[in-house]
Amino acid sequence: MSEIRKVGVVGGGLMGRGIAQVCAAAGYETVVREVNEELLGGCLEAIGRQLDRAVEKGKLDADVRDSTLGRLSGTVSLDDLADCDLVIEAIVENIEAKKDLLGALDRQNPEHTIFASNTSSLTVTEMGASTSRPDRFVGLHFFNPVPVMKLVEVVRTGSTSQETFDRAFAFAKSLGKVPVACRDNSGFIVNRLLVPYMLDAIRGYEEGIGSIEDIDTAMQLGTGYPMGPFVLGDFVGLDTLYYIAEIMFDEYRERRFAPPPLLKRMYLAGYFGRKAGKGFYDYSGDEPVVSDFVR
Ligand code: 3HC
Repeated sequence: MSEIRKVGVVGGGLMGRGIAQVCAAAGYETVVREVNEELLGGCLEAIGRQLDRAVEKGKLDADVRDSTLGRLSGTVSLDDLADCDLVIEAIVENIEAKKDLLGALDRQNPEHTIFASNTSSLTVTEMGASTSRPDRFVGLHFFNPVPVMKLVEVVRTGSTSQETFDRAFAFAKSLGKVPVACRDNSGFIVNRLLVPYMLDAIRGYEEGIGSIEDIDTAMQLGTGYPMGPFVLGDFVGLDTLYYIAEIMFDEYRERRFAPPPLLKRMYLAGYFGRKAGKGFYDYSGDEPVVSDFVR
């Protein structure tokens, strides 16, 4: 197999843009693909802002920022990913959308291209099996915010070849991340443990163990977690948390993975968390306050 030189990232949302940024920063020629110019512009601007902020804080040299941006390009066309050695998909958590995308990439990319998915809960096996290269298919699951969080879960399916797994593992290391090996079980390691914890916090709140703020404060100060469960839920996105819980419940059929009714209602009402300006907390003022929905 040839060396990884050029990386394609499909999807420029919160995760995709972070992945593209760390790939370009690590020295890879990187192309990020979004579905339209507006979303692409937003993605590239966000990466630029992020790097500018690091320069302003004195954490990054201006010439390193410039060389990182020099290795990064954006496109709305999948054709521009045809010469990538590794393509990482970070699009919406919808298996049909992912299969459509992977089918198109599979038809156009050369045999040596490794495909990776940043899925947090869908089955990597199913995605790999929908291509002609399940042996060259892995999960590379990054964490939000990607430039900060050190972990990458490297997920191998029963079909992933040892060589592909080793290369994906080495690639994650080359980004300055700490990779861990995971089997293709829904939620891998982190979400398998984290999602039931966040769901249980919601159930605990409904059962009256404490207020939203007190549960957050308790878990932050009592365990040293950087964020309490509700702040973290808003940060991850309550729509994302709801989707993941649904998928994990479907896989394991255990109550601990079932989304509590309150989470479902917040999702249905558009209380998606920080990105929507409201979730468990309302972010419209100077300081977040508990939102009306859960007061
Ligand atoms: N993007 C990039 N960098 C960010 C950032 C963002 N969204 N938010 C904060 N940072 C950087 C800051 O620039 C700062 O960098 P510096 O030290 O070089 O100046 C550093 O992170 C620390 O930021 P702050 O001082 O502003 O704030 P905190 O110390 O409170 O840290 C945090 C912020 C890193 C987000 C921290 O609160 C944290 O670790 N929270 C937990 C995050 C977490 O658990 N993520 C995993 C979620 S689960 C997941 O992603 C899986 C998915 O499948 C659901």
